[in-house]
Amino acid sequence: MSAGRSGDPGPAAGRSGPVLSAVDVRVQFAGRGRRRAAATAVDGVNLDIAAGEILALVGESGCGKTTLARTMLGLERPTGGQVRFAGQPLSYRSAALRGYRRSVQLVLQDPTGSLNPRHMVYEAIAEGVRIHRLDNEEARVADALSRCGLRPPQRFFQRYPHELSGGQRQRVVIAGALVLEPSVLVADEPVASLDASVRGEILALLLRLRDELGLAALVVTHDLGLAWNIADRLAVMYLGRIVEVGTPEQVFADPRHPYTRALMSVLPESPIEPIVLTGEPPDPTRIPSRARPVARSPATWRRPGCPQPAPRPGPGSRPGPRPRPEPRPEPAPDPRTRGPSSC
Ligand SMILES: Nc1ncnc2c1ncn2[C@@H]1O[C@H](COP(=O)(O)OP(=O)(O)OP(=O)(O)O)[C@@H](O)[C@H]1O
Ligand SMILES: [Mg+2]
Repeated sequence: MSAGRSGDPGPAAGRSGPVLSAVDVRVQFAGRGRRRAAATAVDGVNLDIAAGEILALVGESGCGKTTLARTMLGLERPTGGQVRFAGQPLSYRSAALRGYRRSVQLVLQDPTGSLNPRHMVYEAIAEGVRIHRLDNEEARVADALSRCGLRPPQRFFQRYPHELSGGQRQRVVIAGALVLEPSVLVADEPVASLDASVRGEILALLLRLRDELGLAALVVTHDLGLAWNIADRLAVMYLGRIVEVGTPEQVFADPRHPYTRALMSVLPESPIEPIVLTGEPPDPTRIPSRARPVARSPATWRRPGCPQPAPRPGPGSRPGPRPRPEPRPEPAPDPRTRGPSSC
């Protein structure tokens, strides 16, 4: 993490607790028009991310993943609960937020949209260094590019985004986040817009950054295969709530929540009878007040009160390291890694 690179230990260094936490976080969006109800996008989420941990947040479209990620970044202010960084509640004063945004950086899905087409790579990466008034600008930019596999970095300084491949553009975006020496990356669908041939490379890069720098990451994805490949822990979100948390092995071996079972059942060679979700996705403006049935599940699941299960053991109590797949451009031959987009 930052300690190893600049000598500045940063607020998250040397702590054993979670680096980033959501504590009973709720986010409601006011309805528009006279009769529009408020949408509860995030509904009482508790989630911890440890230093150096990659946590994958999976769930179907509209379940609140991006809203939760934006709230963890301080871009959205929760209507209830709090976000904690290094054990401290997040302050929403602008000076405090500026410091926080250096520590917790965003990586978006579409590198083309994230980069200004008129800015050369050097300018794109140096921007954050200038905003935060850091010294040694050129050395920082070069270091960030090298760490992201763009070597020699000087060769990329004067390139425009259109002169790069999609994978190189995403590396530049990640370098732009890395140059500020963050403790946490929040990556919203970081490889969804990339060709399959470079997805594996970008995932391998995230794993390497975790190993080399102790960087933690919250990776939002629809894709269970990606989550299996990259995550230390997996959190499954359904209709604004975290319904399942555990290591990928735990969740894949014993999915406890009906919604997780439905996600898992459509993976190739899943031992679970395929469960096809029918009907409309659940509507966050009409969440039942007492019960939280899995709305698009077989009738047997439509029972009142589907409580949030107790979280599984955290990262400290993992049974042992999961063998990581070798970096490769294509998905692994393990059937679990070739799952379809799960939502
Ligand atoms: N700014 C906003 N104003 C009103 N409603 C919003 C706003 N942002 C999100 N929502 C609603 O909150 C719910 C959750 O949206 P969110 O973007 O977090 O879902 P998601 O899980 O990231 O979906 P996807 O996988 O499609 O990206 C949706 O019903 C969405 O319409
Ligand atoms: Mg989203």
